[in-house]
Amino acid sequence: MNVLIIKEIKDKENRIAATPETVKKIKELGLEVFVEPGAGEKAFLSDSEYENTGARIGAYDDADVILSVNQPTEHQLDKVKENSCWISMFVPQSDLEIVKRLVAKKITFFSMNLIPRIPRAQKMDSLSSQSNIAGYKAVLMAANSLGKLFPLLMTAAGTIHPAKVVVLGAGVAGLQAVATARRLGAQVEVSDIRPAVKEQVESLGAKFIDVVDESAEDKGGYAKEASKEFLEKQAAEVRKRIAKADVVITTALVPGGKAPILVTE
Ligand code: NAI
Repeated sequence: MNVLIIKEIKDKENRIAATPETVKKIKELGLEVFVEPGAGEKAFLSDSEYENTGARIGAYDDADVILSVNQPTEHQLDKVKENSCWISMFVPQSDLEIVKRLVAKKITFFSMNLIPRIPRAQKMDSLSSQSNIAGYKAVLMAANSLGKLFPLLMTAAGTIHPAKVVVLGAGVAGLQAVATARRLGAQVEVSDIRPAVKEQVESLGAKFIDVVDESAEDKGGYAKEASKEFLEKQAAEVRKRIAKADVVITTALVPGGKAPILVTE
């Protein structure tokens, strides 16, 4: 079976679905690997690095299975062979037009967003791996664009007070944002609807904004849609903090649903 690693076409996308290191593992499974020319360029991976692992430079015609970071565009789907298979991140319910096109072309689709979050599947949990990076990067971007410094700096000439950061949602992305902001020396406050995260937030040296809703956690420990009363109470508390904050990072999400809008104009 032939696997193709495509060149991502989305604006500002630097990632690639497989590196030379992971290509080796795919080859060990007995699959042939093709890479679109220049696919790894933005990730500083040259075609020859892929070729050194035994991969060949190829195109959509070569592919039974396509590995991609992003969901296909209509233009990409035109190039995919019938009865082939596409594996990438994708929230199917957010783009039913693409789902219809996939069905019409008999393409089997595996959404990395829908890999069950059970211990056996943890190696495939790309959602957590990317959330982790998003939380980290959000803090770096904020630190870079903020007109003041993150840490408390004391010199004989004067004192600079630490930046105040508010993080909304303390899942994988949120907790990484908290940890990164703390490492840079910021004062961090956090809001989440799941009571279990209070301890995790505090263990990272941040303050938990204490409005919790016992009913907002399902049996598996994930968030459920919060009640209207709770959201109003939370918004009032969070608003006070945001007004004083230098940075606000929003990561709140309910699996399969639309992200709640927690910061209004
Ligand atoms: P997520 O990305 O779905 O949600 C992020 C956070 O937003 C959650 O903590 C959620 O409670 C919070 N949130 C939702 N609505 C909110 C609101 N209105 N206001 C404030 N916060 C709100 O969650 P994520 O990061 O994918 O995972 C959540 C937890 O699941 C993790 O903390 C971890 O404990 C667990 N997990 C388990 C895995 C496993 O393989 N067993 C893998 C990954 C995560």
